[in-house]
Amino acid sequence: MKIVVIGGTGLIGSKLVNKLSQQGHEAIAAAPNTGVNTLTGEGLAEVLKNASVVVDVSKAPSWGDAEVLNFFETSTRNLLTNEAAAKVGHHVALSVVGTDRLSESGYFRAKIAQEKLIKESSIPYSIVHATQFFEFLKGLADISMADNKVHLPHVLFQPMAADDVATGVAKVAVGSPVKGTVEIAGPEEFRLDDLVRRRLAALKDPREVVADPNALYSGAKISERTLLPGKNARLGETRFETWLTQPAAQIPSAPQPAGVAAGKDSRQKAG
Ligand SMILES: NC(=O)c1ccc[n+]([C@@H]2O[C@H](COP(=O)([O-])OP(=O)(O)OC[C@H]3O[C@@H](n4cnc5c(N)ncnc54)[C@H](OP(=O)(O)O)[C@@H]3O)[C@@H](O)[C@H]2O)c1
Repeated sequence: MKIVVIGGTGLIGSKLVNKLSQQGHEAIAAAPNTGVNTLTGEGLAEVLKNASVVVDVSKAPSWGDAEVLNFFETSTRNLLTNEAAAKVGHHVALSVVGTDRLSESGYFRAKIAQEKLIKESSIPYSIVHATQFFEFLKGLADISMADNKVHLPHVLFQPMAADDVATGVAKVAVGSPVKGTVEIAGPEEFRLDDLVRRRLAALKDPREVVADPNALYSGAKISERTLLPGKNARLGETRFETWLTQPAAQIPSAPQPAGVAAGKDSRQKAG
């Protein structure tokens, strides 16, 4: 099958393109630096010719509420219009576990708007909700600073390795459209502050991590189970301690962090 991966040069997208290619598919990485821009529509009609599946794992390059909303609404509309013209049979999008519970956050309102457009379109679809990536734990610390300490809520979450995210999305992409949402998650539950503390210790980063009940997640107040997947989530194999021994864990910072905002005025965003 010809499978176009929008955001195919990013963290998840590049792994996804590799996995689909290894399975014998014609997987195309589509992103601004390969000549495809979903915001402007540049290169879209061309790349979608004869495509069976489109997987959208793109991310807005900026974080302001209005910019992110504009990114996901405009790019999704452009994609769906061009997919209908090209008779694409399956639209797959990557989103975040708990999105519908996080509407207090501007970032998640944009993801909700993206999902609504997909659900209302004529293209058969599958939405994949993933939990937080191990790769972003240090990024979480970086954007959760207040008074020189990392402030995070002591809530449960079930993060996963980016490689397992790509595996989960690849499985959905080559299957039939589910016309609904599939959840994918890591194999273990942790407390957000505890795991970030362990990640920083592994990096020999001396910052103190404080369990702060007032720390926000992407601008939203969250409770004990907001970030957890449901019982039918498909679980990745990679345990946190195993991931720590892998080359990916030796890279201290990711290009853009997923976020928990410390304090009510923080503008940092998750996902
Ligand atoms: N972080 C988390 O913990 C988490 C958890 C669950 C789900 N997610 C979701 O996972 C997805 C992928 O995240 P990621 O970390 O892999 O992102 P990433 O590494 O930042 O990659 C983003 C990709 O989007 C592309 N892109 C940006 N603007 C574009 C445009 N106008 N047209 C086409 N492509 C464009 C980028 O291309 P260039 O490099 O050329 O700009 C890049 O290939 C996101 O949707 C995110 O919400 C994240």
